[in-house]
Amino acid sequence: MKKTILFAAAALLLAASCCHKNATTTADAVMANILSRKSVRSYTADSVPAAVIDNLLRAAMAAPSGMDIRPWSFVVLTDKSQYDSVFEGNFNMRMFKESAAVIVLCADTTVTRPPRDNPEGAAVTMPNPIWRDDMGAATENLLLAAEAHGLGACWTACYPFADRMDPIRRALQLPANVVPYSVVPVGVPAGDNQPKDKWDPSRIRRL
Ligand SMILES: Cc1cc2nc3c(=O)[nH]c(=O)nc-3n(C[C@H](O)[C@H](O)[C@H](O)COP(=O)(O)O)c2cc1C
Repeated sequence: MKKTILFAAAALLLAASCCHKNATTTADAVMANILSRKSVRSYTADSVPAAVIDNLLRAAMAAPSGMDIRPWSFVVLTDKSQYDSVFEGNFNMRMFKESAAVIVLCADTTVTRPPRDNPEGAAVTMPNPIWRDDMGAATENLLLAAEAHGLGACWTACYPFADRMDPIRRALQLPANVVPYSVVPVGVPAGDNQPKDKWDPSRIRRL
């Protein structure tokens, strides 16, 4: 009996140490990925497999969302001949034309809260004043996933600039309630791209 208890305790200790080790390894990997992320604006001619693009979109859709509304939808462009008409605004077109794919992150600003907690119930209709926050979180998740895949990407602002949004709205035939929020070119990085060290303890106030 004593032996069994000792064995169980040893197994528990081993499991606990394994979990801790895994947690540390995961934390290290996640931190390394966050700190490695950088805006990449130059790409090789290499393509990016569709399955990898799907992973980036999976990461974007895993973002937190106020009231869990998830206002996002995504347009993926890989045909460079379309880029001129879609991005004729103020974008850095060279960056876009080099990238293997360009992802337009769109937000439905009128979407209401679906009855997820109560599938029998009606959708909760209320304005969503925080759709921009959801879109920022989705954009950052996508960038981090690109970094994790060894890809280069760059957040380019779209909303609220009319000269950037209007051509996209027209070319992609977006309905009036759908806003093109950000545009992210994705590709295999070219050149030397280094992350910036932004750590600044003077920005922290500890109480
Ligand atoms: C809201 C937002 C809008 C941005 N818009 C542009 C843009 O239009 N064009 C561009 O080249 N980079 C854009 N960037 C990228 C920033 O210039 C970049 O994040 C910043 O210089 C810090 O560099 P890092 O991303 O390498 O850390 C944008 C970033 C954010 C968060």
